[in-house]
Amino acid sequence: MSLPRIGVFDSGVGGLTVLKALAEQLPAHYLYFGDTARLPYGTKSAETVARYAIGAAHFLQGQQIDLLVIACNTATALALPLINQAAHVPVVGVVEPGAAMAAHVSKNRAAIVIGTEATVSSHAYREAMEKRGLVVYEKACPLLVPLVEEGWVDHPVTEQVARIYLNEALAQAASNSDVLVLACTHYPLLAPLLRRIVPPSMEIVDSAESTAREVRKVLMDQQLATGTKDADHRSFRFYVTDSVEKFKRLAIRFLGRQVDHVEHVDLGG
Ligand code: DGL
Repeated sequence: MSLPRIGVFDSGVGGLTVLKALAEQLPAHYLYFGDTARLPYGTKSAETVARYAIGAAHFLQGQQIDLLVIACNTATALALPLINQAAHVPVVGVVEPGAAMAAHVSKNRAAIVIGTEATVSSHAYREAMEKRGLVVYEKACPLLVPLVEEGWVDHPVTEQVARIYLNEALAQAASNSDVLVLACTHYPLLAPLLRRIVPPSMEIVDSAESTAREVRKVLMDQQLATGTKDADHRSFRFYVTDSVEKFKRLAIRFLGRQVDHVEHVDLGG
């Protein structure tokens, strides 16, 4: 059986945290689209994000993908139904798998979700988690994405900023909250720093791994999943809307290794 072709879409480099989890679990041909020219999505309206995401979905479909992963929390939260309507392949977003993972881990049924302004205002995570019986407090942390992009993942300034956000969240959330959901592609890089701030008993959950599991399940349902013996044949292609060089430079941080085969594309609009 030939390897499935999986499209992975994000507003920029952050989605590489999801690609990393996918590649660890599933041998496939990966086609990653990072809309670096139009990042950040986290401050934009649902209409704009949907328009950008649908353009990217069409582009990736033109590369004969079998399945599309929306690695961007903001795009999933704001535009998943519209992307689903526009796509001709199965689409997996990160919100439902992340919410399911949080519900699985939380003993006290109370959690804090941190994400971009747009993700938090959409309440997509809160709704997905409330459906699973959790009480949820959401907190937008808009300064964290640029700090991670700057590479300041273990920097005193980032720690100070994260402390301000999380102290506010901890003061407002249910006092027995026992899970912190990282509802943004960039935050997994801050996990060690966040670990120092939240109470030791609080579990930190991100969507990447649970999304990879969901993708495997969908591929198995479509009889497209292959065994790990095919891992040697997997491949990676990257398409970005801004500088190839900048993407390569930042990608090392997110993926932990050098990336090749990066192409610039211009979707217009
Ligand atoms: N990828 C976005 C997310 O996961 C973060 C970066 C952005 O705002 O575009 O929400």
